[in-house]
Amino acid sequence: MTEVAPRVAPATTAAPRSEQPGFTVWFTGLPSSGKSTLAEMLFKELEARRMKVELLDGDVVRTNLSKGLGYSREDRDTNILRIGWVAERLTHHGVAVIVSAISPYRATRDQVRMQVGDFVEVFVSCPLEECVRRDVKGLYEKAMRGEIKEFTGVSDPYEPPLNPEVIVETDRATPKECMELILSRLREIGYLSEPAPLTNPS
Ligand code: ADX
Repeated sequence: MTEVAPRVAPATTAAPRSEQPGFTVWFTGLPSSGKSTLAEMLFKELEARRMKVELLDGDVVRTNLSKGLGYSREDRDTNILRIGWVAERLTHHGVAVIVSAISPYRATRDQVRMQVGDFVEVFVSCPLEECVRRDVKGLYEKAMRGEIKEFTGVSDPYEPPLNPEVIVETDRATPKECMELILSRLREIGYLSEPAPLTNPS
């Protein structure tokens, strides 16, 4: 009888699975608290380690995947659940996912946490007065003049996490210090193997 070549390669010769564990680092906080700055720094850190990494920033997601959504509770939840869905898919394919979004509602963040599993919540803590002083995009000023409705921190709620994996206080620590804290926590949990060679944020 002629031997038939197996259609599927035996497990021993199959391509090795990615060594990198997938996980999602979720930055939440008030507008101008420093989420995007830290998310971008972390992106560079992980890229420098040659990791597969993806950054999902609320502002950017709202120009494509969530285009047309507003800032009602329902629309914000839809936005966050969409980002969460993408984060979950990527996480399970071994990608380090970084999310930066206000994500003001605790229950919605917790729902995403459950879906993703490997989830590291970073609370970017900064007093409202300091965020207003920074007002990176000039939106607090507009919101306080009543030109923007439902603005987080002014006329819309923000619910801080009760038990985040990391809290960074951006009014007290430098971005570099915040990054060191985040990286050491990621190492502690087991998502990063070797000590972090901090890249020079330019
Ligand atoms: S979230 O609430 O759905 O998580 P997301 O992080 O995606 O918000 O988007 C927030 C960004 O939208 C802010 O950085 C700001 O530039 C812009 N924005 C416009 N209107 C509002 C508003 N009413 N509240 C908060 N952010 C707003």
